[in-house]
Amino acid sequence: MASLRDRLGVRATGPAAPAPTAAPKPGAGPATPAATAERQQAAPAAPPAAPPKPASPAVSNAAPANRQQAGAQVASRAGYHELKSRMHRKLIDVLDLSVLNTMSRPELEREVTKIINDLINQEGINLNRRERETFVKEVLDELLGFGPLEPLLDDPDVNDILVNGPKQVYVERRGKLYLTNVQFKDDGHLAQVIDRIVSGVGRHIDEAQPMCDCRLPDGSRVNAVIPPVAVDGPSLSIRKFRKDVLGIQALIDFGALSPMMSAVLQACVKSRLNILISGGTGSGKTTLLNCLSAFVPHDERIVTCEEAVELQLQQPHVVRLETRPPNLEGRGEVTMGNLVKNCLRMRPERIIVGECRGGEALDMLQAMNTGHEGSMTTLHANSPRDAIGRLETMIAMAGMDLPARAMRVQIASAIDMIVQAARLNDGSRKIINITEVLDMEGDIITMQDIFIYERKGMDPTTGKVIGQHKPTGVQPRFMERLKSYGQQLPEDCFKL
Ligand SMILES: Nc1ncnc2c1ncn2[C@@H]1O[C@H](COP(=O)(O)OP(=O)(O)OP(=O)(O)O)[C@@H](O)[C@H]1O
Ligand SMILES: [Mg+2]
Repeated sequence: MASLRDRLGVRATGPAAPAPTAAPKPGAGPATPAATAERQQAAPAAPPAAPPKPASPAVSNAAPANRQQAGAQVASRAGYHELKSRMHRKLIDVLDLSVLNTMSRPELEREVTKIINDLINQEGINLNRRERETFVKEVLDELLGFGPLEPLLDDPDVNDILVNGPKQVYVERRGKLYLTNVQFKDDGHLAQVIDRIVSGVGRHIDEAQPMCDCRLPDGSRVNAVIPPVAVDGPSLSIRKFRKDVLGIQALIDFGALSPMMSAVLQACVKSRLNILISGGTGSGKTTLLNCLSAFVPHDERIVTCEEAVELQLQQPHVVRLETRPPNLEGRGEVTMGNLVKNCLRMRPERIIVGECRGGEALDMLQAMNTGHEGSMTTLHANSPRDAIGRLETMIAMAGMDLPARAMRVQIASAIDMIVQAARLNDGSRKIINITEVLDMEGDIITMQDIFIYERKGMDPTTGKVIGQHKPTGVQPRFMERLKSYGQQLPEDCFKL
């Protein structure tokens, strides 16, 4: 019977082969996945908000010249990381990847451990038993986990990971996109990592179902698309789950809003205003929704409906609902509309819908109009006025043949406030409008800005946007309501 080593397809590596200098493969770039020396995306003219860290001098592709040097290299964290990536690349080179999924994890661990030990010996690297065990475990995790993406998933500065085929991986740091040197071996290697991610959470992706939304066990949100739909190779988008929840104070510290705006938002949530958070993609809508939800009093029953659970509510009385895609036979789908309708039967005091995208908007508005004041949701739109237009389109998507005016009456009476979020071109995320929705004048919904972000220019040295949050001077109509809920705001709160 063929040995596991043969089954793994390991190519012969001479026992005393000289330590290779790990020259990058043709077209493989500097090939140090761990050293994420990143080139800034070509587009922005301004200097980056946070310049990418240069590769550490400890990071080198060259194999250590002797054992002592190797030991010193391992002692440094960057060197250790580099060594791990190098081992991982070597393993990928010598293994027949297609057999990885056909073997049990213990079988694989045993065999891969032997191969890694051989490679360590060949390189003359000085590791004690414990270091070796830890090292082998980490390389295995990389091999059987998320492959070259592991260092990016571990990097707390990375918010988004965007893989456009095997040779192009971007990350978002502080609101800006950077191209990394992380690469996969080929389409097959990337497809395998995608398959591992997707199947690990009980989902499936193949030619018949080439798109998949799911969540990693740590809560990160994943979207995968494979050919033929993804024309240039498998594509993967990961919104990493933040372990440190961004609270409202952090947003104030980042300059996303002023302390006064925060006080007003808090009073509005406590006074049960229905709030719509609007913004472009990645503008911080969900983060804001999470922060505003934190103002909901702890004695209220909250039901949340989300496509993929992202919100991290701290209240004790929360029921979380999540949509479900259809199974392989196309059955069992639970849509956002189903969830919103169902949650009305769960005696919620507040409904929080992660994001309105379609027909559920009408159910949400009806809920807001019928005893579930204080509900909140987000949607994709570039201005408060645009958000109203998007809501109208979504209601139309529900298939209800409502006349435009009737739709607008419904919207105007349901939504009390629109909070507009934006990601500015320096990468910062800010609230740029807090807008009160008033009522109808003729066929038009009237609104008034209460706070705005006044943008004045760009600082040529830092590349940061210069501007400030300020009240418009308008006294909002919701003040009466705030008073009736016992919410006090400073006298000069809305003064210019
Ligand atoms: N004010 C802020 N300052 C810095 N980072 C922020 C801020 N708000 C959000 N972020 C970070 O930006 C990323 C995107 O935020 P979030 O998920 O809230 O955006 P979104 O608008 O809901 O995105 P999507 O459109 O993809 O749903 C997250 O990693 C989040 O931690
Ligand atoms: Mg979101």
